[in-house]
Amino acid sequence: MGAACDLLGPRYACAFVIMLSAPIVFCMTFVSSAEGYVAVRFMIGFSLATFVSCQFWMSNMFNGKIIGLVNGTAAGWGNMGGGVTQLLMPLLYELIRRAGANPFTAWRIAFFIPGLLHVIMGILVLSLGQDLPDGNLTTLQKKGDVHKDKFSKVSL
Ligand SMILES: *[C@@H]1O[C@H](CO)[C@@H](O)[C@H](O)[C@H]1NC(C)=O
Repeated sequence: MGAACDLLGPRYACAFVIMLSAPIVFCMTFVSSAEGYVAVRFMIGFSLATFVSCQFWMSNMFNGKIIGLVNGTAAGWGNMGGGVTQLLMPLLYELIRRAGANPFTAWRIAFFIPGLLHVIMGILVLSLGQDLPDGNLTTLQKKGDVHKDKFSKVSL
């Protein structure tokens, strides 16, 4: 993920990870065994790599004097999102069940909401995000303002 941030910029790196993990979240619908659940949940865990792009991005956007506060706030906000999701998913399940779905279907439908949020957030990051205070990485590299890293350099 660090190499992806260096080469593509945090905007693409973050958006790709969120959007690529969306189909995995949707796959929760097809799970029919405990092993399947653990496997899909394991794969969803890869979306947590967005943490790296988040910290990379914040470090690029903010001044060194406040970077501790900025990174702490962004990371804390992200962790809180994970915690809130743990609390909301059972409530979501309960709502869907009360709306008429049986338990077997209800928790599967519930996973469509975080999956959809992955897609929406990926699109928002792509369309609204900016890599650096002065602009986007590829534009600045073309202008020659930012050095272009080589894959062989950043992956070692
Ligand atoms: C960077 O890209 C985003 C998304 O396409 C765009 O909204 C933004 O205006 C761009 N920034 C600059 C300085 O061009």
